Amino acid sequence: MTNRNKTLGEFIIETQHSFQYSSGELSKLIHALRLAAKVVNHEVNKAGLVDILGAAGDTNIQGEDQQKLDVLANEKFIQSLTNRGIVCGIASEEEDHYIEVNSQDENHQNKYVVLIDPLDGSSNIDVNVSVGTIFSIYRRITPVGTPVKMKDFLQLGRNQVAAGYIVYGTSTMLVYTTGHGVNGFTLNPAIGTFYLSHPKIQFPSDGKIYSVNEGNYIHFPQGVKDYIKYCQEEDADRPYKSRYIGSLVSDFHRNMIKGGIYMYPKSSVANKGKLRLLYECNPMAFLAEQAGGKASDGESPILDLVPTELHERVPFFCGSKNMVDKLEEFVSKYK
Ligand code: AHG
Ligand code: MN
Ligand code: MN
Repeated sequence: MTNRNKTLGEFIIETQHSFQYSSGELSKLIHALRLAAKVVNHEVNKAGLVDILGAAGDTNIQGEDQQKLDVLANEKFIQSLTNRGIVCGIASEEEDHYIEVNSQDENHQNKYVVLIDPLDGSSNIDVNVSVGTIFSIYRRITPVGTPVKMKDFLQLGRNQVAAGYIVYGTSTMLVYTTGHGVNGFTLNPAIGTFYLSHPKIQFPSDGKIYSVNEGNYIHFPQGVKDYIKYCQEEDADRPYKSRYIGSLVSDFHRNMIKGGIYMYPKSSVANKGKLRLLYECNPMAFLAEQAGGKASDGESPILDLVPTELHERVPFFCGSKNMVDKLEEFVSKYK
């Protein structure tokens, strides 16, 4: 045996016994995501070369312009998750309604629902900046043998059985958790294989980076404004650095490795902020907690919020535990 990093395939086999449900099911799910990730990676990488850039001429349910790659990534992930006898329903940021997966499942035997943000940070595509994919996986709560229902998708974030993201960056990485820590795999594009490059990722408990769209500053709640000023103050370990890519996956990934806080607060123009609870905040919150970090809406843990609709938005503060604690302390002064 040579002393080389494990592949994702080897890692899945080695760790699947710790999955609380059928190990084969988890493997099939991760394999499906891995395959779609490679296809989307290929498309993202050639985005500058072919006529694939630019708006597709459509808007999604939130009224935002859809880029062609959004549509393509959505298609690839849905295709890959379907027809494997595992997934009974898919909800996507790019689809108005959830999709019931019926093919090869005449008797509604499949047990998992997947929620995805197929292309996160899509406004960055045209300018060659990192984008990502976010996924979140639950066991259905309706009985097997019946059609999937909305309540299968509107579960507490705490119920996630797996979650993760792919970051299409200077290298492409797949980072995921099944509730036993967070592991990161880097794609070797020459042979199309993901290798375990970041085992047991830990969020530093403190950090020196804050990530927020400061263009919205005047609209933020006073507690958040005060916290931003605190980040900028001169002190032993401050001012902190400001780093904001505008692609949650990339901002989160950097902060998890280096230590930092990501913030998308509510504001006087968007009373729930921008990010979606089910496709963006819950999976990132699960990863954050699994890596020893923290995710909050400013008051409560994200994973304890009760979802009421597929596309709902929520204020989001996520990162190094001590930084999120501090943010909550500032916010609580104005309750
Ligand atoms: P998406 O591309 O899936 O719509 O998500 C974009 C999100 C998130 O990735 C990013 O952090 C945030 O929007 C940036 O928003 P602002 O441009 O308002 O800062
Ligand atoms: Mn997104
Ligand atoms: Mn998106």
